[in-house]
Amino acid sequence: MFDGNRRLQVMWTLVGLFLILGSAGVVYGVDGPAAATDLRCEYLSNPMGIDVEKPRFSWVLHHTERAEMQTAYQILVAGSAEDLGRDAGDIWDSGKVGSSDSTQVVYAGKALSSGKTYYWKLRYWDTAGNSSPYSGAAVFETGLLARDAWKGRWIEGNLLRKEIDLEGKIVRARAYVTALGYYELRINGEKVERNVLDPAFTTYPKRVLYSTYDVTRRLRSGKNALGVMLGGGWATLGKRFFDPEVGPYYKAPALLLQINIELEGGKTVSVESDGSWKAAQGPIASDSVYDGEVYDARREAPGWDRPGFDDATWSAAQTVEGSKGTLSAQMMPPIRVVDSMVPRSLSNPKPGVFVFDMGQNMSGWVELRVEGPAGTQVTLRFTELVYPDGMINRENLGEAKSRDIYTLKGEGQETYEPRFTYHGFRYVEVTGFPGTPSLDSLRGRVVHTAVGTTGSFAASKQILNDIQRLIHWSQLTNLFSIPTDCDQRNERQGWMGDAQATAEEAMMNFDMAAFYTNFIRDIRDAQFPDGSLPDTVPRKYGGVPGDLGWQTAYPLLCWYMWQQYGDRRILEENYDSLKKYVAFLRSHAQDNVYRLHWEGDWVELAHTPGDYIGDVWYYYDVSLFSKMAQILGKADEAASYGRLAGQIKDALNRTFFDAHTDNYANGTQTANAMALSLDLVPKEHREAVVRSLTDDIVYGHNTHLTTGFIGVKFLMPLLTNLGRSDLAYDLAVQTTYPSWGYMVERGATTLWELWQDKAGPAMNSHDHIMFGSVGAWFYNALGGINLSADSVGYEHIRIAPQIVEDLHSASASVRTVRGTVSSSWSHSPGLVALEVTVPVSSDAQIVIPAESQMTDVVIREGDRVVWENGRYISGDAGVKAATQEGRIFTFQVGSGNYSFRLTGSE
Ligand code: BGC
Repeated sequence: MFDGNRRLQVMWTLVGLFLILGSAGVVYGVDGPAAATDLRCEYLSNPMGIDVEKPRFSWVLHHTERAEMQTAYQILVAGSAEDLGRDAGDIWDSGKVGSSDSTQVVYAGKALSSGKTYYWKLRYWDTAGNSSPYSGAAVFETGLLARDAWKGRWIEGNLLRKEIDLEGKIVRARAYVTALGYYELRINGEKVERNVLDPAFTTYPKRVLYSTYDVTRRLRSGKNALGVMLGGGWATLGKRFFDPEVGPYYKAPALLLQINIELEGGKTVSVESDGSWKAAQGPIASDSVYDGEVYDARREAPGWDRPGFDDATWSAAQTVEGSKGTLSAQMMPPIRVVDSMVPRSLSNPKPGVFVFDMGQNMSGWVELRVEGPAGTQVTLRFTELVYPDGMINRENLGEAKSRDIYTLKGEGQETYEPRFTYHGFRYVEVTGFPGTPSLDSLRGRVVHTAVGTTGSFAASKQILNDIQRLIHWSQLTNLFSIPTDCDQRNERQGWMGDAQATAEEAMMNFDMAAFYTNFIRDIRDAQFPDGSLPDTVPRKYGGVPGDLGWQTAYPLLCWYMWQQYGDRRILEENYDSLKKYVAFLRSHAQDNVYRLHWEGDWVELAHTPGDYIGDVWYYYDVSLFSKMAQILGKADEAASYGRLAGQIKDALNRTFFDAHTDNYANGTQTANAMALSLDLVPKEHREAVVRSLTDDIVYGHNTHLTTGFIGVKFLMPLLTNLGRSDLAYDLAVQTTYPSWGYMVERGATTLWELWQDKAGPAMNSHDHIMFGSVGAWFYNALGGINLSADSVGYEHIRIAPQIVEDLHSASASVRTVRGTVSSSWSHSPGLVALEVTVPVSSDAQIVIPAESQMTDVVIREGDRVVWENGRYISGDAGVKAATQEGRIFTFQVGSGNYSFRLTGSE
């Protein structure tokens, strides 16, 4: 017989094994539906500590046949692994539910209790009524569901410790931890989790997020020591924030902790942060997100986090009021050290000054490896740029000192990594190093929110792959529990304009569902009583109210969650607050024209009037809100906001459209692109406005952009929708100024804030993600992966690759909520080949263009002919229909993998 603890270990090992098998691929037994994989709860795999009453489940289906669907499912949720193993859903047995939903399936079992582990699995039935085997077991665990489950107080201190004595075997132990600032939790000498810079940056007085850790195996019978280090993070940061409303929120960091322990025999022990903890000043002399960490290793207290340490000189921890805000579970991937980098080169531009080049602009810090006399002070300074003489250029860091200082203890080989700061950098200047450092003296630590990668994109044109690489890096290095603008200077804020501009790109490349779910709640927390929103969330910088291109992140992110993940709950939860937001807009829109504005477009090359841009957003937001009302079944509100949108459109055309010149506002690319994208242009002028736009690009600017980041997000998909993917492509592969390719050619390894190559003291970050919106266009247009009109969550897919002249091949793949969707094409004279993957329970429209001069088109799928002599030939499994319109062939297919070959004579 196993004891409880051992049984739990075995269970987690089995869950782990299942997950490894699951991610390694699907094992098909006999023909038919294979067990579902990738079981998620609230978008997370086996989440610890969730605090939603009715969590949502999702899974991915696998079938050996094409054109398969889930016709029904059965979910079992059990209170123990054993019960689940016996197929007993004592907490919830959904029964056989007729439905094709494999995502957003809402839990409907018994009320969930606080701090409990639940085990779940499912099976499903296919179109012929065959059932799949049960999936492997997954788990989810609830956090502390009620405020009074937290028994402790907030306590302050730099180093905090407490010893506890446990009598008997530990069956189960969970630590619930949060801080105002950052914490590192240690038990019996070891760091508990891989999370760093935890908890997430929130509006602390309103909401603080806690993490849940399984500490069963960290505790033991007898004496145990708990140790916590605290850093200020965003909670105490005073630099640049002097308005009491935006910080510093607190004068010192504070900890709130609750550990619930179950001992053999049923006894429970609760440990919490309170005045019985001891506090002392540790080796971290100062820490700041912007300025870095100052660490004196001579002040380390070896053994402080182990039992038996003499803490007689330590004082009692101070209890403080802390935050009165809501304590919520942190339900998104944590910030982690995700990778290590070996520096690419090392130079010695001046005596005693060493400059390491990481070869990549990155976010995080470095590990320093050094040996020398006690008291030696090594200073590390982080920059994105160097001067021609090789010295670091700190000019674009603003007030951020961005340096770590380490004082050696002098005990042989020492290694140091900071805990409570991060930097955005490619270069590290090292001074004060005892002796001569080598490439082995530093290791780069890549740090950001550890979202999984869901997408891949590659094309035969190298510059596109280079841009994709820049987008990938810029996006990740700007995820620090919130989407940030940059990672190096004294900002790193949740600028909402940047967030909305890049969300669609981010959702293709990365697993963003849980991350944005959290950020949308942050936005709601930051909403002002009049319904307006700040420019940054949590509110730190910017205008109040924010510019509409920034405020609009609220409806837009909700909308993208709906489109990409089919997340209806987001719409439900935010409907009232969105309505307040729309009411705010309306209160500033006399005669249906909204005129408040600050940024307008941003970092643009041709200025577009901000009042026009704001008004377009007003129209967009009201139209989206009307659609949301429709989706939620609020027909009256949908109709009345739809009417309002119509009035705004009329007023906008009256105010900003010049029917003589066929231009909006002052006729910039941004102005005309926004109007065309949102279908604001009167029909009879549409063609002419398109001409104004494309003439401006091609003749006015020699096929270059003049937009800022607001305009360009509209422009690229618009050109594709207008049938001008050729022109969008020319812009995408452009390498002269201004263009993405120009950044690549000038050696960028992340995207810049400006189109210009600048390096002075003014605003010019070299790691901004906002121009990365073009990444979505890579997937949608070049890769061809799209949602069908009015479909959400990839139920109905449209694969429509834009086969542009200069490109021989492109491939894209996205791990969607319903499974992997991929599209890979190549083109050579007389042949278009397209491979497509459609997940089970989804279908797709596959659009294959022939070359314009091709005749006698024959299309094969695998080895069967599906089109010949001008007509569709049925009989290929999964292919349901086909039509031709000019040189465009469209096939309707069900799930499965397909390989199309279109040939013809020229
Ligand atoms: C940020 C931008 C932001 C802008 C708006 C800048 O300082 O870095 O990305 O959107 O301000 O004012």
